[in-house]
Amino acid sequence: QMKIAVLTSGGDSAGMNAVVRAVVRIGIIKGCETYIIREGYEGLVRGNTHSQDTKPLCKTEFTLDYQVAIPQVIDNLRFGYGSLLKNGEGDIDEQGIATTKTLKGKYIVRVGWDDVRSWLSEGGTLIGTARSKTFRTHEGRLAAARNLVLEGINALVVCGGDGSLTGADVFRQEWPELISTLLKNGSITSEDANAYAHLKIVGLVGSIDNDMALTDLTIGAPTALQRICEAIDNINSTAISHSRAFVLEVMGRHCGWLALLAAVSGGADYLFIPEKPPSDPWEEDMCQVIQQHRAAGKRKTLVIVAEGAHDASLNPIRAEQVKTVLSERLGLDSRVTTLGHTQRGGRPVAWDRILPTLQGVEAVNALLEATPSTPSYMIGMRENKIIRIPLVEAVNMTRAVAQAINEKDFEKAMSLRDPEFIE
Ligand code: F6P
Repeated sequence: QMKIAVLTSGGDSAGMNAVVRAVVRIGIIKGCETYIIREGYEGLVRGNTHSQDTKPLCKTEFTLDYQVAIPQVIDNLRFGYGSLLKNGEGDIDEQGIATTKTLKGKYIVRVGWDDVRSWLSEGGTLIGTARSKTFRTHEGRLAAARNLVLEGINALVVCGGDGSLTGADVFRQEWPELISTLLKNGSITSEDANAYAHLKIVGLVGSIDNDMALTDLTIGAPTALQRICEAIDNINSTAISHSRAFVLEVMGRHCGWLALLAAVSGGADYLFIPEKPPSDPWEEDMCQVIQQHRAAGKRKTLVIVAEGAHDASLNPIRAEQVKTVLSERLGLDSRVTTLGHTQRGGRPVAWDRILPTLQGVEAVNALLEATPSTPSYMIGMRENKIIRIPLVEAVNMTRAVAQAINEKDFEKAMSLRDPEFIE
């Protein structure tokens, strides 16, 4: 029987809860045992401190034939752990991770149908996330592999951004070596080593940045874009009232997708994105464009700056700098608005419920169909179709974009990102 665990990692994004819900429910429908791992890879490294206690945490039993008994499942599985994940008194450890009393020392938790009830519309990630430093070490990954084997989990779904999926790819590559080390040091038996010889792992891209190669859209990006769009509408009315200039800094790390699409959907006079820096000196080019717009009668100016923006020599361009240029060279009454984490939190828009649900189904199918010779997949979407992409290819291509930007080969970066759209 397949035991599937799902974790969310890196920066949270709207739609991550819908991923967990889809994986858990489709997993149950397909006859699997389903688990969540709290606090991302950090929880995988920590594992459960109660290994002698083999009783599942979940109060529900999973003996029904789920193919035919969905209504019964809904009626019967009423005693889940969903509320424990959300509420309860507890402690905060030295790394700021909060733990309810019941889940203290338990990072890998069996969950049932009801545990994920009403998760579709919740923002953030209810199972917690972290940017785990320990998982970046070999020792950490060894502990993570041991915990998976000890808990009997043979399939893993990771939902996170490019860093988290790179981590998943490293884990996948190292897996045979991790298993043989665990066998040698006596942490697992030879039966376990045989049973867990291959790691079944699949990645789902949860990130507001939409920075993963080989997929058109990442989970959470549409919601973040919607937030920015609403912020632009709000800014516009006050900007027009005062005839002011606003410089809006948006997230996206090294990717300009949010900034670019915000400019398309909200309207902007000028835009700075990492993939296509303005020609030097950017100050002159920007002032010329804005002067033309003002001469044509515009009462407001909006400049969008991606947080990873830089000039053609890779010197960062920050919103405050842009504001100073607008004030000093054009005499515009200027303000900076940094949207920050308001872009990331809050309820997912409809598309960030649909995409994770469809991709969650595909993730479970990919795990069930996995054989030792099939590659580990990342689930993506291209031209409105849910697709499987070899994880290693997506990770390598994403790295190639970053490398092209570092080498100032912006044309290459653009062509690797999404040529048609950026042009
Ligand atoms: O990757 C998602 C993201 O929101 C980026 O856009 C941003 O640069 C970063 O995470 C912020 O990270 P943190 O929440 O750790 O400050």
